[in-house]
Amino acid sequence: MKNINVAIDGPAGAGKSTVARRAASILGYIYVDTGALYRAAALFITERDIPGSDVENALNEADISLRFIDGVQRVFLGERDVSELIRTPEISMAASKYSAMPPVREKLFGLQKQIAAENNVIMDGRDIGTVVLPDAQVKVFLTASPEERARRRYKELSEKPECPAYEEILADIIQRDDQDMNRETAPLKMAEDAVLLDSSELDLDETVEELVRIIKAGTDRSAE
Ligand code: DC
Repeated sequence: MKNINVAIDGPAGAGKSTVARRAASILGYIYVDTGALYRAAALFITERDIPGSDVENALNEADISLRFIDGVQRVFLGERDVSELIRTPEISMAASKYSAMPPVREKLFGLQKQIAAENNVIMDGRDIGTVVLPDAQVKVFLTASPEERARRRYKELSEKPECPAYEEILADIIQRDDQDMNRETAPLKMAEDAVLLDSSELDLDETVEELVRIIKAGTDRSAE
């Protein structure tokens, strides 16, 4: 039987990973955060200080993989678990920059396809419904206004000692949206057959509930 593939795309800070992880645990699917792959590629490139013109060649040596430990995704560069190292603001911006490069996307395409072919997955990213899994049984575009995304991020960071100003977070989100949406290769956009889920007015529980409802409706329909 064909595995169930759910594609969730949307801009940075829309809550895709939290919401998708919870929905995956409710439904018993594997949650795959493809942004972590782009972040690992960005870490590889920045750690070695590779100039843009050498990225394609250098990436041949990058051994990027995902491992699922007790169902939880970890990302590896060779045998090094880099799951935490890739979460800095510098790597966020670098991932957004390097993910616009076709060789980076090509490098990670096969890996994503393979995981989806072998498992029931909820896979989140920017181009999952449009490029990576165009035949996914369910596609969702999860978004929220830039201001609401910045407010949520500010709230999350305000518990930490060094919290950037709200305006700085908002500017960062707007810049990343612009880079992700306006690149030539696999830009962030809603697939024609995706369901739009705008979480601006919903809390986390409501968003998860709505996502699970959409997935159940979509998988029931595709089983008919
Ligand atoms: O989801 P995230 O913030 O961890 O993603 C980091 C960057 O990687 C993001 O700016 C865009 C890029 N990305 C992508 O181009 N395609 C994906 N499928 C996932 C992420």
